[in-house]
Amino acid sequence: MVTRALRARAAAIAAPGVRYHGSHVKRILVRTKPRSYPVHIECGLLARAGEIVRGLLPNQRSQCFVVTAEPVRRNWGAVLAQSLERSRVAHHWLETADGESHKTLAAVERMAARMVELGADRGSVVIGFGGGVAGDMAGLLASLYMRGVALVQAPTTLLAQVDAAIGGKTGVNLKAGKNLLGTLHQPLAVITDPAVLATLPEREFRAGLFEAIKCGVVRSPKLFAFLEANRELVLARDMKALAWVIAECAKVKADIVAKDVAEAGLRRTLNLGHTVGHALEAETRYKQFLHGEAVGWGMVAAAMIGAGTGKTPPDAARRIISAVLAYSPLPPVDARPAALLARLRSDKKTRNGLPHFVLPRGIGRVEVTSAVSEEAILQALERMRSLSRH
Ligand code: GLY
Repeated sequence: MVTRALRARAAAIAAPGVRYHGSHVKRILVRTKPRSYPVHIECGLLARAGEIVRGLLPNQRSQCFVVTAEPVRRNWGAVLAQSLERSRVAHHWLETADGESHKTLAAVERMAARMVELGADRGSVVIGFGGGVAGDMAGLLASLYMRGVALVQAPTTLLAQVDAAIGGKTGVNLKAGKNLLGTLHQPLAVITDPAVLATLPEREFRAGLFEAIKCGVVRSPKLFAFLEANRELVLARDMKALAWVIAECAKVKADIVAKDVAEAGLRRTLNLGHTVGHALEAETRYKQFLHGEAVGWGMVAAAMIGAGTGKTPPDAARRIISAVLAYSPLPPVDARPAALLARLRSDKKTRNGLPHFVLPRGIGRVEVTSAVSEEAILQALERMRSLSRH
């Protein structure tokens, strides 16, 4: 039950620091080279996406190619199509099968071939319209087609809105692992409409919230405190609360990407929870956990490793673990700690055979380190596993 007091508290916390343009409209600038780009966040914005895209077209004859999956097209395709038509933006749909297993180079190649058939040229614009899978494939397609065409991201899952659509990472999977082929290709704009989250399945919605908690732990104590205090409001999908959470995550991401687009240092902090998270996903063949859920358990493990090695203050570790559990249910962890450790050693981000961890130093502050003993890792994995079964 969402109480009036909770709403008032959310409004009070949300107000400072957020630049409102009209009601609940936010615009956050991502300062990258060669150009900066805006993340527009507004309820109902999808119906005006055409105006934004129209203003970004490289020329009068430019065509748009919308990369999407069937469920997104079914729920929201008509809204986007009407908006593009109203603004006289010529567009075609490139529909792809839903799910990580379809995020392949072969699928991107098929879409590129279709673009050729439809007369796409250097002035074309690719629109990523969906979750992380559609966004990653749209990004790669845009970066490769004729050595690069313009990209606009219109994310429709919470995970993509708070993380994947911002920062220019693109990628497809190989049999050997996730996102092993990819490029960096920044969009011209990100068009985020929290209202589309209304049709997101509950499990996917919660999975996105773990990435939002991550942003709080990495760089925003204010965001973390809001998520702690407003669980009911957030889970009830209160649009004002969600717009604020998405904007705070976008600010965290924009700030980090502006300082380290190539992930040479600071951007690695966004991998909090991903070291163990990736190991969990790989060990369960990507079938048991959604990515955000694996990151949730990964943050629990990072907090436990941090507390066990004296890097994370006990109160911060407790708050992180409680916040993750508060937004559960999460699937239980059955994987054996020794098997997870073997996965950690072979992770693509491993350097010199040592997995690197992002460990909380408090709420809003993290450290990247590989100086963690295998004993400390195993202990934390065992504790995480037993916590997941209770
Ligand atoms: N998803 C983390 C990043 O974009 O760096």
